Amino acid sequence: MSAFLPPILRTARLVLRPFERSDAPDLLRVFADAEVVRYWSSGAWTDIAQAEAMIAEAHQAYLDGGLYRYAIALADTNRLIGICNLRGHFEQNRRCELGYALGRAHWGQGYAGEALEALLGHAFHALDINRIEADIDPRNEASARLLEKLGFRQEGYMPERWIVHGEKADTAFYGLLRRYWDERAATHSSAHATG
Ligand SMILES: CC(C)(COP(=O)(O)OP(=O)(O)OC[C@H]1O[C@@H](n2cnc3c(N)ncnc32)[C@H](O)[C@@H]1OP(=O)(O)O)[C@@H](O)C(=O)NCCC(=O)NCCS
Repeated sequence: MSAFLPPILRTARLVLRPFERSDAPDLLRVFADAEVVRYWSSGAWTDIAQAEAMIAEAHQAYLDGGLYRYAIALADTNRLIGICNLRGHFEQNRRCELGYALGRAHWGQGYAGEALEALLGHAFHALDINRIEADIDPRNEASARLLEKLGFRQEGYMPERWIVHGEKADTAFYGLLRRYWDERAATHSSAHATG
């Protein structure tokens, strides 16, 4: 087990926690679905060893700091339903990149928004990150809507940046600054105060 583990983050319905070895079957279920990996550079998983490798990579990263990866689990059951992570942390610039995926059975219920609210709040305040970036396929409407709802702004468009499942794919590039996050929090709390 790692010497450093990211702290557990709790929301109303979810727990963001470090990976456990016993998560492998639930993790495989998430990434064995071709719809989940439709816009990812790797194909649908077929083997439990792929889930075990992701868990091992997360544990190694808890040690060397290369990747800050959480399991998203249901609070009621502690069962993994997805993942979210921050990677590519540039210490001097206090910047990193966001990634996330949920199993299809849990889409459309507000879980990703709820999980990322907690992760981003932790990143800006506890980790003192100043800027978080996300690179998505512009056809991924759920992902674009999710980012915009969280306060990300689209900053760029890069045609044919990736080859995904043999097909050229564009990038819509998004950024979220800590000051946007703080302004959004202030707007939400004044709306609650007056509403
Ligand atoms: C992207 C993903 C994480 C969204 O998860 P989710 O839990 O369904 O998202 P939420 O329920 O929190 O919804 C966030 C917003 O997106 C909207 N949304 C969700 N699915 C949508 C869809 N298919 N089309 C358009 N909007 C959608 C929601 O309505 C919500 O907006 P609203 O509050 O204004 O109604 C999920 O679809 C997923 O795991 N996809 C596969 C992996 C992936 O593509 N990851 C990103 C790679 S960059």
